[in-house]
Amino acid sequence: MALPAVAPAVGRLTAPIPAILPAPPGRLEIFSWWTTGGEAAGLSALFDLYKSRNPGVDIVNATVAGGAGSNAKAVLKTRMLGGAPPDSFQIHMGHELTDSWVVTDKMEPLDDIYTQMGWDTAFPKGVLDIVSYDGKPYAVPANIHRANVLWYNKKVFSDNGLQPPTTFEDFFAAADTLKAKGITPLAFADAEGFEAIQTFETTAIGVLGAEGYAGLWTGHTAWTDPRVTDTLNTYKRMLGYINTDYAGLTWDQANDLLISGKAGMTIMGDWIDADYTSKKFADYGWTTTPGTAGIYDALSDGFGLPKGAKDVEQVKNWLRMIGTPEAQDVFNPLKGSVPVNVFAGNGNYDPYLKSAIADWKSQTVVPSLAHGAAASEEWLGAISDAMAVFMIKRDVAATQASLQQACLEARVCK
Ligand code: GAL
Repeated sequence: MALPAVAPAVGRLTAPIPAILPAPPGRLEIFSWWTTGGEAAGLSALFDLYKSRNPGVDIVNATVAGGAGSNAKAVLKTRMLGGAPPDSFQIHMGHELTDSWVVTDKMEPLDDIYTQMGWDTAFPKGVLDIVSYDGKPYAVPANIHRANVLWYNKKVFSDNGLQPPTTFEDFFAAADTLKAKGITPLAFADAEGFEAIQTFETTAIGVLGAEGYAGLWTGHTAWTDPRVTDTLNTYKRMLGYINTDYAGLTWDQANDLLISGKAGMTIMGDWIDADYTSKKFADYGWTTTPGTAGIYDALSDGFGLPKGAKDVEQVKNWLRMIGTPEAQDVFNPLKGSVPVNVFAGNGNYDPYLKSAIADWKSQTVVPSLAHGAAASEEWLGAISDAMAVFMIKRDVAATQASLQQACLEARVCK
């Protein structure tokens, strides 16, 4: 199941929101990996809103640091399989939700809440599709993030007479200029593993286009295709322009290289917009990653109700709140993401987010690999292993063979 290329419906001016009674006093444990400045700020705003609506409920903030859930997912698995689920947990919409937790019968359906809240019409159809399995929704999306964004330091660019690159050719030309000046062209991190996958994914979109890339997840594009070879060669060339200490840096630490002007560009999802906000850095610009203009590489964070959760009434109120325009407009400006509810979008969104809201409504949507939308966690794991070896050996032919093998094992390729 992939994020279909649909634009969200245009919303009416006001949302019909039913009255939600406060939950009984008690506790609510929310599990996530939102620990960096912008992530924590968004989560904390949601907690404040929930507490104001549900006095007497204590929130347990169960976080496990690590971008893209690199550490949290393993802890979650242990708890879920050990019969000690958190009350509610951060989950990516798409394959991560359905293949890992719904098909395995670990989640409660949420159709009653969807009907009560009117979300069958307030969420775009493409989003309803990826939160649902067998016609029932199993999570409430809090946001849409974009993965294919290239961020740049405006001063570094203007000092060197550069324009934001839109093609790979432009990118390499700008990178050569920066390298000649002793500036790291592309700030890169790989301490958490997901960053290399995400850069590979955005390169694949740039080389294959939306349809060719989306076809990788459905069997319509072969992993043996020469354009996949081209993707790996292009990515390998890009890796010639990164900082040498990437293996020890997290995504937000790599971003500090851009902020300080030691690097000119970085490729990262738009949670980095929230990182700039929390670090009070305003001198950044953005464009789509090379070759991906008009394409929105999307992922969505949400929450659900695991079977066996202890504090069910509190979770239900948490879920009812998450999808409302009010909660989405409090959360997303701080988190660096755009709202899902078509009645939202009136919060304190900065210029980047305003542009992202417009793009999300009008562009071609493809599912993110690194963030659970495009492929199952098993398949993503096999691709991650192949790309981890690629980062060291940079062997295009061997990596393409491993990627083909991963597709065969996922039973998508024949
Ligand atoms: C993504 C997640 C985002 C952001 C990012 C970095 O997987 O969807 O909300 O937290 O990881 O941690």
